[in-house]
Amino acid sequence: MSLLEMKNISKVYQMGKEELYALKDVSLEVAEGEFVAIIGPSGSGKSTLMNLIGCLDVPTAGSYKLDGKDVSDLSGDQQAAIRNEKIGFIFQGFNLLPKLTALENVELPLLYRNIPADQRRRHALEALEKVGLADRSGHKPAELSGGQQQRVAIARALAGSPPILLADEPIGNLDSKSGREVTDLMHRLHQQGHTIILITHNQDQANEAQRKIAIYDGNILSDEKVIQR
Ligand SMILES: Nc1ncnc2c1ncn2[C@@H]1O[C@H](COP(=O)(O)OP(=O)(O)O)[C@@H](O)[C@H]1O
Ligand SMILES: [Mg+2]
Repeated sequence: MSLLEMKNISKVYQMGKEELYALKDVSLEVAEGEFVAIIGPSGSGKSTLMNLIGCLDVPTAGSYKLDGKDVSDLSGDQQAAIRNEKIGFIFQGFNLLPKLTALENVELPLLYRNIPADQRRRHALEALEKVGLADRSGHKPAELSGGQQQRVAIARALAGSPPILLADEPIGNLDSKSGREVTDLMHRLHQQGHTIILITHNQDQANEAQRKIAIYDGNILSDEKVIQR
């Protein structure tokens, strides 16, 4: 089954009198359990595509079905509810709240869903265990290394069990060793059945995915299975 189904999606920005096509007639399907990398140079439309996939923005034209539901034309509130339920976000800058502990950060998506406190705690601890950081649950982000902070952010993405993990340059701010650990963690999660969409400009990282989609100038240039060596 397709988890994500985009048909003839365009995103146009109006720049004075000029129309700028950030995405042009893009069609894309992602099935449950896939690990897809979306790669392209700066300005190619990656963030625009990520914002559409993650229901942070709506397309100018085209249709988008996420987990069977048409999300092409939602209000802001509806988008927020769908995002919380369907997408686990992983950002380049981690986006953890500095005053909260690792555990409290991981609990946040569950808090927004009004899940009772004891269940929240239990799910958040399970997610921290999955990323190997249960022993750091009481630490604030500043007391953790960059790699550990990103793993906490991955635990937060996992906590609500969303069908899709959407990562935007997740190792862009990390040294190579921490980056390797985060990439390995994402591969482990994929092996456990998670669907992962990874946005990157790093060819090596893209080549480790199952499927690689190259975008350039708002178009999909190629969409291919990656042969693992
Ligand atoms: N809010 C916006 N208003 C106007 N133009 C935008 C906006 N966001 C992105 N663009 C333009 O759309 C194109 C794609 O941008 P973006 O999706 O950010 O690319 P990438 O993430 O691959 O660097 C670029 O030409 C960019 O300048
Ligand atoms: Mg970008």
